[in-house]
Amino acid sequence: MTYTLDAFTKDAKAALTADNSPSGREQVRVLLEKLLANRQFVDEAVGPAAPMGTRKLYEDKDLGFVVLAHVNAKAHKSPPHDHGSSWAVYGQAVKYTDMSVYQRLDGGNDAGDAKLEKVKSYRLEPGHAGVYDVGAVHAIDYPDGSRFVRVTGRDLDHVKRLKYDMASGKAITIESASASR
Ligand SMILES: [Fe+2]
Repeated sequence: MTYTLDAFTKDAKAALTADNSPSGREQVRVLLEKLLANRQFVDEAVGPAAPMGTRKLYEDKDLGFVVLAHVNAKAHKSPPHDHGSSWAVYGQAVKYTDMSVYQRLDGGNDAGDAKLEKVKSYRLEPGHAGVYDVGAVHAIDYPDGSRFVRVTGRDLDHVKRLKYDMASGKAITIESASASR
């Protein structure tokens, strides 16, 4: 049977309710890959006829997690950033996203001087999802026409988080959710 968005949100809710830890989030990553195998869902969410930009497909009224469709026209390269008190699962649907994962070396977790080291980089291909847990720092780099589905633990519009300017060695508070994904 086809795995629908409705089935995904129910299963993700059950997984997160049972296991509010990195392994619960890993289950969401696996479920998102299952959802991305549903051609009809991918077409409706981020296919050729889907509206450009970012839109919310689902928000859980109890746990607060959200499912977002990202239909990107233009290439974009983000600075390293975290998701504050939230986590994020990125599921690639069309084209690819190059992911870089960083470790903060100065022991801080606030704005100001910060030293980052890149620890991993890999390409997220269609059908694959990656999890970035609470506190993880990553950067994304995708070409024109890249499309993905993202699940975050909370609506990031309401989460205080940081981005990193590698040139100046500073962590900077993100004022707007659109500034960096
Ligand atoms: Fe992100």
